[in-house]
Amino acid sequence: MEIVILPDSAEVGRVAASVIADVVARKPDGVLGLATGSSPLAIYEELARRADAGELDFSRMRGFALDEYVGLDYSHPESYHAVIDRTVTKPLGMNPELVSVPDGLADDIPAACAAYEAAIDAAGGIDVQILGIGANGHIGFNEPTSSLASRTRIKTLTPKTREDNARFFDSPDAVPTHCVTQGLGTILRAHRLVLVAQGERKAEAVAAAVEGPVSASCPASVLQLHEHATVVLDEGAASRLRNADYYRYTWANKPEWQRY
Ligand code: GLP
Repeated sequence: MEIVILPDSAEVGRVAASVIADVVARKPDGVLGLATGSSPLAIYEELARRADAGELDFSRMRGFALDEYVGLDYSHPESYHAVIDRTVTKPLGMNPELVSVPDGLADDIPAACAAYEAAIDAAGGIDVQILGIGANGHIGFNEPTSSLASRTRIKTLTPKTREDNARFFDSPDAVPTHCVTQGLGTILRAHRLVLVAQGERKAEAVAAAVEGPVSASCPASVLQLHEHATVVLDEGAASRLRNADYYRYTWANKPEWQRY
């Protein structure tokens, strides 16, 4: 894994955005894996700035979101359909017809999950997958004990995740209990992974993911099995890493052409 430690969230967004921008520039009809949550917002803001400046064109890029709540109407501002539209599709100038989000309202959710996997395959796979990390180590909504080989499916949210996400809803009870999420096996099939984390609240999960054993107890540790995963952190999120100085040294000495 490539671990990049930067002074603040804006820098995290800038460096992670450069990884995405490199893919968009090389493959303007490529496929982005999109994440919700506050962590990737700095990436989307930087990419929107570059799109507005005419440096990048997202109009032919495809997008697949990681996850969605089950049973939450898409008109709800916190449904991931609405969040992806508001924070990614519109600001980046993507074509809404090319952006897919898992279907949390399907009558037959297992069939919708299988169709989602098939759509990713039909698009040629995900060129670069953006990821945040939950304080309990989840990626997408793959909660601890998720199979490392899992595919898109329905999951029950942990009380911790519902509590963390309660800030987006009127009351903790209003947070849905279930979700549909790409699996850890789905995520591993993306050609490249970029995980971003900011703040000390994520430090323990980041340390477990990067320096702990590969374990379903920390789903993000599955990144250790991927051949091209980049983890971009601010100082707070990196504060529990034992080998932080080594990561800083490696990044500082990496030539620009090898970075993105
Ligand atoms: C959410 C999302 C994840 C996200 C995580 C962290 O529940 N399903 O994709 O990475 O929680 O969110 P945040 O970035 O807001 O801390």
